[in-house]
Amino acid sequence: MHSSASPTSAPSAGFVPARAPASSPALSLAGVTVWEWDARLRRRHPILTDIDWTVGQGEQWAVIGPNGAGKSTLLDIAGGMRHPSRGEVRILSETVGRVDLRALRERIGHVDVKTEEAFSPRRSALDVVLTGATGTIQVLEDRLDAPARERAAQLLEQFGCAAVADHSFASCSQGERRRILLARALMRRPPLLLLDEPADGLDLPGREALLAALAILAGERPAPAVVLVTHHLEELPATTTHALLLKGGRAVACGPASNVLAAEPLSACFGVPVTVSRTDGRWAARATPSW
Ligand SMILES: Nc1ncnc2c1ncn2[C@@H]1O[C@H](COP(=O)(O)OP(=O)(O)OP(=O)(O)O)[C@@H](O)[C@H]1O
Ligand SMILES: [Mg+2]
Repeated sequence: MHSSASPTSAPSAGFVPARAPASSPALSLAGVTVWEWDARLRRRHPILTDIDWTVGQGEQWAVIGPNGAGKSTLLDIAGGMRHPSRGEVRILSETVGRVDLRALRERIGHVDVKTEEAFSPRRSALDVVLTGATGTIQVLEDRLDAPARERAAQLLEQFGCAAVADHSFASCSQGERRRILLARALMRRPPLLLLDEPADGLDLPGREALLAALAILAGERPAPAVVLVTHHLEELPATTTHALLLKGGRAVACGPASNVLAAEPLSACFGVPVTVSRTDGRWAARATPSW
């Protein structure tokens, strides 16, 4: 299951370009399988099975599937957060297992619950965003220059969080924390952005600000590759180019968004009838309950 060729073009001012040559994918998985040990059954249990997946530079992917399908595990693999039990993972032209993962992770913007939990509750919202400049959890003052501080303030403004910049991260609302983490992920203009349910907890304007920001990113040259995990098609920007459907740890559909985000593949993936509509490029879905 491989995607089509990726768009390429000249870098815009201020963009940190990917080190990968223009033709190489941002991400490629070949035969990726992940097992976990089931202590009760005393045998290994598959979480992902034989995933072949290629994300081209600048492509905007949606990953969708039922609870427990393996979406977050797949994103952890894509972000170099864990190794596969079997198969090959290449991220930004580096092969997992043959590269310093800490250095590689500095080139990836990753928004998920685990990252959120890693921060000290007393850390200010601005500090959390600033850590995005170094890809760390701690604020590395000596590596922060004036442009980094300006960008952090500008991103907090863009995501509607300027008023809470000095508040402790823990005192921010769930939606504010999500916005702050999105700002953090964008600090380094990463060539690969991984978003696990980024709209979770966002109010309606917050979701629209996120989708608008993603649409702007998709229009940048070069655009970062984006992988967005969501349960709701309504949380996908119109710029989504491709989609992967996961079920029981297996890829059940993969390819151009217009083909995959359709009634038949989604119904097969969720095991219930799903209807899909599209207005002004944005998707909406309804499912018939199984009871
Ligand atoms: N470390 C682990 N040990 C055992 N099982 C695990 C581990 N990590 C994940 N799993 C199991 O693997 C399956 C996939 O988990 P994952 O979090 O990737 O699913 P998901 O598609 O992101 O689900 P959700 O939509 O609920 O977020 C689940 O059944 C989960 O319980
Ligand atoms: Mg998940």
